[in-house]
Amino acid sequence: MQVSEALSTTKAASPQDWPFEVHPLTPKLGAKIAVDLSSDIDDELFGAIYRAFLRYQVLLFGPLDLPPARQVAFGRRFGEVQIHVMNQYHADGFPELYRLSNLDEHGKPSGKHPDRGTLAWHTDGSWRRVTGQATIIYGEVVAGVGGDTYFCDMYGAYERLDASWKARIDNLRAVHNLDFSRTRRHGEDPMTDAQRLATPPADHPVVRTHPETGRDCIYLGDHAEYIVGMPYDEGRALIEQLNAMAVHPDLTYEHHWQAGELLVWDNRCVMHRATAYDPLTQSRVVRRCTVLGEVPVRVRGQPRTA
Ligand SMILES: [Fe+2]
Repeated sequence: MQVSEALSTTKAASPQDWPFEVHPLTPKLGAKIAVDLSSDIDDELFGAIYRAFLRYQVLLFGPLDLPPARQVAFGRRFGEVQIHVMNQYHADGFPELYRLSNLDEHGKPSGKHPDRGTLAWHTDGSWRRVTGQATIIYGEVVAGVGGDTYFCDMYGAYERLDASWKARIDNLRAVHNLDFSRTRRHGEDPMTDAQRLATPPADHPVVRTHPETGRDCIYLGDHAEYIVGMPYDEGRALIEQLNAMAVHPDLTYEHHWQAGELLVWDNRCVMHRATAYDPLTQSRVVRRCTVLGEVPVRVRGQPRTA
């Protein structure tokens, strides 16, 4: 069943009607919901989960035991699951899963961080023409110190821009490029030629309209390289400034992991980043799948609400 059908068939249109408890994680962003993902999820329940996803932007489940196959199956409820081009991260025979681990073949910390690009604020899959919708990430092993995941609300970031800033960025498009962000943050393990060829840069509106809530939000992050039609350095400076301006402490949720937790977030309206940990003394293993969404667009007109 498509997400739109699940939404239209569910009777649970508002939080008080949802068949699970909801515990907001901050006043603006994120909620823990009490759903047992180890059992099958019928369309009615999934419709309510999806409404919560649109309302809260970040959902927390668990701790629970979530085998890889069930994680992929849950991802497919949201839509088409991405097969990531960086195939060295594929996990457990599932090309839909992407494992970030600092452990060596003996299960000991290797001293090498698996992807330092995750430490900068970004949104998953913005370097594709069809960008990321949900990311679904499961904590197999969590670090005792560091290795947290932070989220910030891009609806609120846009709403807090003053009129002159909104006018300045209203019609801009940014080119997002995985090779740019990867090389910049992760120079010792560059992309292969085949991976580079498979990921041509893609331009997207700097302000996008969420296709389901109708709300406008800033859509940039660390994969954004330059602004179409603007001198390169000027565009770089603007992107860096906006990425910094977009993060507000009161619009941020900082998640400190317990093993077995699952986080699901909407890449269309949040940025996220991991915090550093010591890869020589700490162990951290997470597995992730990302669901593909749509080509970002800016829709002008009357906002809708989810
Ligand atoms: Fe990410």
